[in-house]
Amino acid sequence: MMPSITLLAKVVFLATTSLAAQNFSTAECGQTKGCLFQPPDCVPFENCVYALSYSATNSGEVVLELLGQVSAPNNTYVAVGFSKDQMMGQDTVTACASYNNSPFEGHLTYNPSRTNLNVPLDEESQNMILRTIASDVDNNTVYCKLVQKIEPPSNVLADFVAPLNQEYFILMASGPTRTGSNPGLLKHNKTPFISSEMINLLQFQS
Ligand SMILES: *[C@@H]1O[C@H](CO)[C@@H](O)[C@H](O)[C@H]1NC(C)=O
Ligand SMILES: *[C@@H]1O[C@H](CO)[C@@H](O)[C@H](O)[C@H]1NC(C)=O
Ligand SMILES: *[C@@H]1O[C@H](CO)[C@@H](O)[C@H](O)[C@H]1NC(C)=O
Repeated sequence: MMPSITLLAKVVFLATTSLAAQNFSTAECGQTKGCLFQPPDCVPFENCVYALSYSATNSGEVVLELLGQVSAPNNTYVAVGFSKDQMMGQDTVTACASYNNSPFEGHLTYNPSRTNLNVPLDEESQNMILRTIASDVDNNTVYCKLVQKIEPPSNVLADFVAPLNQEYFILMASGPTRTGSNPGLLKHNKTPFISSEMINLLQFQS
């Protein structure tokens, strides 16, 4: 009994990973999701340095699509920061990152000041706040589709994971990751994107 369940789990896992090759559809921008592009009007996987989409669900979550150019298909990241100002520091950051050659996945991080740290939450607690739906890397562009809880559990400090039902300036950055036993995001090596105004992440609903 057990071996066949394991086999089934593997087959299901493989099926989900191959389905994960997704594109950033621009068709729904401004309808069911809000979108930001750098440069404006760029085409994902062709010439976007960064792109973000956000869409609230009716189950208390925001679907985030993060896309960004990276210098290598492994051990790099693209990240979105939620900030009360247009500078790095006191931001919470959701990253799409590959550590130690792993596939790109969502990770919760934060910028106490001008450095980035991993949130001090175990994997299980993180998985309750952030889930990876799909990820893909193509033509030196990374894409993650993530689902993040609008309100993190009450025992999680807003310094680590901010609630998404407030307006934020949106920061985006990409760069290499630190590998080894304490993986994390290293300093960005592309000029970050900074939104010109604060964004309401719940403005669009899917
Ligand atoms: C993604 O979609 C755009 C149009 O939005 C298209 O031009 C591009 O070729 C697609 N890229 C991939 C990798 O499918
Ligand atoms: C890959 O990226 C380069 C540089 O951004 C771009 O010129 C090219 O059109 C892209 N290729 C495809 C197949 O989209
Ligand atoms: C990423 O890392 C994996 C595991 O080491 C390796 O098999 C794969 O070739 C790497 N991908 C690229 C595009 O370098």
